[in-house]
Amino acid sequence: MNQPNIADIYDLPEYYDVVFADDWEAEFEFLDFCFDRYVDGSVNRLLEPACGTGRLLVELAQAGFDVAGVELNEKMVGYCRQRCPGVDLVSGDMANFQLKQFAQSEPFDAGFNMINSVRHLLSEEKAVAHFRCMADVIRPGGIYVVGLHLTPTIGDPLEEETWVATRDDVMVKCHLETYDRDLDARIERASLSYDITDASRQLKVTGDLSFRTYTAEQMEQTLQTAGHWEIAETYDFTYDLLQPIEVDQQSEDVVYVLTRTA
Ligand SMILES: C[S@@+](CC[C@H](N)C(=O)[O-])C[C@H]1O[C@@H](n2cnc3c(N)ncnc32)[C@H](O)[C@@H]1O
Repeated sequence: MNQPNIADIYDLPEYYDVVFADDWEAEFEFLDFCFDRYVDGSVNRLLEPACGTGRLLVELAQAGFDVAGVELNEKMVGYCRQRCPGVDLVSGDMANFQLKQFAQSEPFDAGFNMINSVRHLLSEEKAVAHFRCMADVIRPGGIYVVGLHLTPTIGDPLEEETWVATRDDVMVKCHLETYDRDLDARIERASLSYDITDASRQLKVTGDLSFRTYTAEQMEQTLQTAGHWEIAETYDFTYDLLQPIEVDQQSEDVVYVLTRTA
């Protein structure tokens, strides 16, 4: 079996989409609930920064929302445009974009970023810039739903996960492992590997990802520095609408529902 290491695992959107697409229903329902519960006024226009393959945008577009994205990786951009033809997509950095770059110029009612993408911004400057860009494009009364893994300050964080995903005749066994965590520099590295089996071949690819670490306190500090956002509620990755959580020093998977203040 071939085992190439590739420079950017996000350069394989067709396999990313198999590996992560299955979770869309719980995320979709959760977002729909948040739009009803936390947005002041109606919700039509949605933005996903770091939208990747558009696995959620395509479902939201089919449900009648106007969807838009920002994405840095050109291969993801190409895949997303094909998968979700109506998407208003900006090819660029989620820490540096403006409303005028979108085809439509109205502000957004809500934004979402469900699985750690904010943590790809590796400095405080970039993270603050991102939350400010989002505040500039989401109207007051709108929301930004942000899901990320926090580093617990009590207890040991989860170090690895393995799961299998299938679509048609493609099966991907995915392994994600954190191997280098530096809490002073606030960076951790993870290797993501796909063991791919399809009708004609077997292939293994591995890529490295870098994530910024956040404790609950550091996340609140970033939001405070950025301004314009208030934490309305917090949930975890079970997306249990009836069970908001209290974030504490042991919390790991947290979904923040942020409201855009006036
Ligand atoms: C974990 S994937 C999430 C994709 C999508 N949001 C989802 O839920 O499936 C992270 C995505 O962030 C993108 N990304 C990383 N840094 C970025 C940046 N600075 N600006 C925009 N996109 C970025 C990557 O190319 C990748 O598509």
